[in-house]
Amino acid sequence: MAIIVKNIKQLVQTENKNIKFRAGKEMENLPVINNAFLLTEGNKIKDFGKMEDFSPEILKKIKEPIEEIDATGKFVFPSFCDSHTHIVYAGSREVEYIDKIKGLSYEEIFKRGGGILNSALKLHETSEEELYDQAWQRLEEMASFGTGAAEIKSGYGLSTEDELKMLRVIRKLKETSPITIKANFLGAHAVPLQYKNNPDEYVDLIINEMIPMVAAENLADFVDVFCDKGFFTTEQTERILMQGIKYGLRPKIHANEMACSGGIQVGVKYNALSVDHLEYTGEAEMQVLYKSETMPTVLPGAAFFLGMPYAPIRQMIEYGLPVALASDFNPGSCPSGNMQLIFAMGSIMYKMLPEETVNATTINTAYAMDVHRELGSITKGKIANFFITKPMDTLYFMNYAFGSNKVEQYFLNGKRQ
Ligand code: NIG
Ligand code: FE
Repeated sequence: MAIIVKNIKQLVQTENKNIKFRAGKEMENLPVINNAFLLTEGNKIKDFGKMEDFSPEILKKIKEPIEEIDATGKFVFPSFCDSHTHIVYAGSREVEYIDKIKGLSYEEIFKRGGGILNSALKLHETSEEELYDQAWQRLEEMASFGTGAAEIKSGYGLSTEDELKMLRVIRKLKETSPITIKANFLGAHAVPLQYKNNPDEYVDLIINEMIPMVAAENLADFVDVFCDKGFFTTEQTERILMQGIKYGLRPKIHANEMACSGGIQVGVKYNALSVDHLEYTGEAEMQVLYKSETMPTVLPGAAFFLGMPYAPIRQMIEYGLPVALASDFNPGSCPSGNMQLIFAMGSIMYKMLPEETVNATTINTAYAMDVHRELGSITKGKIANFFITKPMDTLYFMNYAFGSNKVEQYFLNGKRQ
């Protein structure tokens, strides 16, 4: 079924050429069309433009039945791309969260066998089918809030068998979900307890056994490491990234959440697609990132939930860097995949302008998960993933009304959901 959306109050993030991302001052630049139309055919965007340029002739070339939608008073956005999630996990960790309220830190909970290790234990005891069902529900909810693409990490397995199990679940989600999905191998999420006194032995296992097996089954697009104080060192990270690259996996890493760990420098050195978290980012890190191919990605939900210092987004943009915003949906540091909330947090917590938050959650996150050629903007030929908002006076309502769902209807691969 083709779809023609007419009388759109504002069609957001329209782009005629394929751009990679927006950086620095350019992040304030958000192309929009007022009083617009959008036409899809099959799973692709066929045409868009001003209503005054629309003629019924345009529809004559369409070879499918056409659904007509009147979007008077409403906005149309390309779906959000969520370039950093951990949504394949078993159960939840709200009991630990109470310990956090009482004053224990993320690192303290981890040290006593909680946190990621707690999730690994639960995942070990949960079947692939059950993991798939739980992740599917999370994906459905994410889609209802406007997400059309998600990167999903492994990292709650921490043994060869369970890491492969997680990645197989992600593969099944890829095959069955209307959301575009990329898989990221994060065997180096935490050192399992049995390797506590010899973490390099676990790194050897990742390098010699896990990566070759993941690649042999073609289970991942990317390789990730939690490169930070108390987790993996820069030396260990380098070894893992080199092996990942050898097996065709582009790095995307967790860096500088707990300290100035050198993670950003390692990421850029190995041409990571993104470095994520970045609470501890200074002039030296910004210099390294400048003009690199690595997308600095901030995860406001995790900083908010854990009470971390905020990444210096304003300074990063003033420095000329691009910035992406993703959810980090996971059971420990951000139990939410609501990208509308992340979008609003960009303004509330980091003083980003609304135009900057659109770029940070669409084209920039599309780049950070390597789908910018097919998603992230309203461009002819791209996949028709978009949403129609409830009636709004201005786009700024998205940044302002942080607690309500502004998405009225959403479409993935050109199909109403
Ligand atoms: O991105 N920082 C490391 N990993 C996740 C948290 C995972 C967890 O606590 O389960 C994150 O915040
Ligand atoms: Fe994460």
